[in-house]
Amino acid sequence: MSDAPKDIRYSQRHLLGIEGLSPEEIVLFLDRSESYVEQNRQADKKKTLLRGRTIINLFFESSTRTRTSFELAGKRLGADVINMSVSTSAIKKGETLMDTAMTLNAMHPDVLVVRHSASGAVKLLSEKVNCAVINAGDGSHEHPTQALLDALTIRRRRGSLSGLLVAICGDITHSRVARSNIYLLSTMGARVRLIAPKTLVPAAMERMGVEVFHDMNEGLKGCDIVMMLRLQSERMHANYFPSVREYFHFFGLDYEKLENTKPDALIMHPGPMNRGVEIDSEVADDFGRSVIREQVEMGVAVRMACLDILTHNQPDEGGRNI
Ligand code: NCD
Repeated sequence: MSDAPKDIRYSQRHLLGIEGLSPEEIVLFLDRSESYVEQNRQADKKKTLLRGRTIINLFFESSTRTRTSFELAGKRLGADVINMSVSTSAIKKGETLMDTAMTLNAMHPDVLVVRHSASGAVKLLSEKVNCAVINAGDGSHEHPTQALLDALTIRRRRGSLSGLLVAICGDITHSRVARSNIYLLSTMGARVRLIAPKTLVPAAMERMGVEVFHDMNEGLKGCDIVMMLRLQSERMHANYFPSVREYFHFFGLDYEKLENTKPDALIMHPGPMNRGVEIDSEVADDFGRSVIREQVEMGVAVRMACLDILTHNQPDEGGRNI
C-alpha cells in the first residue's frame, strides 16, 4: 500500500493546505497515519513521542470532531494540549486575531492548530509566530486534515486513490472540504466530479480540472466514491435554493440516486450531517456502504501523523532539525 520513498521529508514548517503538496508528501502523511490507526485500536493508546511539547487548539469557529480529534491526537502522543475557543478568549474583549496569536506565541507553544471563518486568516497568523501552524479550516478555503483523513479512509478501503472516480456533491461554493479534496484527489490521480445546483458551484471550479454536473443522476453514473457536503448556511448571505424540501428532492442522496453509482460505491460525509437535507437518514446509517464513522476514526490517526511530522520538522537554534 505504501510507496513513499524512505528519504521523502516534509520540509515546510506549517500545514496550511493541500494545494502545492507533492504526491510523495501526501503519501508520507498517509503512511504515518496508518501506523497510528493501529495504535488507536490498542487498549493502551498513549505514547511519549511529544512529551514536553505544547499544542494549542485555537478555534474561532465551532467544531466537534476536528477539535476533539486534535485534542485526542496530541494527548495520545503525550503532549500538553490546551483548548481555546472564542467564547472564552480575549477576542470577545476586542483583541485582534494577531494580538491573540502573539500572546499565545510568547508562551512558546510547539504547534498552534487554528480554525477561523476568514479564508487566509490562518496563513496570516502563521507568518507571525515561531511555532508550527496547522490549518483546521479557514473560511471556504482549505481544510487539509479533512482531505487527508478522507484519503486515508478511501485508500484503506480501495488500496489506492489513483484511477477512482469521486463525486463531491452539494454546497461546493462554501466548502473548504471540497477544495482540499479536489487538490488531494487530483494530485493522487483520481478523477473528480462536482455535483451541485448552479448557484452552489463557482464557475471557476472547472479550471481546477474537475467535471461539473447539475444533475445527481447524471453525475453519479459509474462513481466509486460519493462525498456528500453539508449546506453551510452560516456562510450563505443570499438564498441559494428555493427550499430544503426541494434541495433534498434534487440533490439529497437517497437509494434511488445511489443506483447510478458502481454497486460497491462508498458513501462519505465530513460531518456534521443534516439528515433529510443532503443525505437520507437510512443511507447515512447503511454501514455496508457508508464509511462516515470510519472517517471520524481516521481523523484522529491523521492528526497524530500531522503533529508528529510537524514537530519533528522544526529547526532548533543550531539550525538542525530536531
Ligand atoms: C467541515 C468543516 O468544518 O469545514 N466539518 C468538519 O471539519 N468535519 C464541514 C462542515 O462544517 O460542513
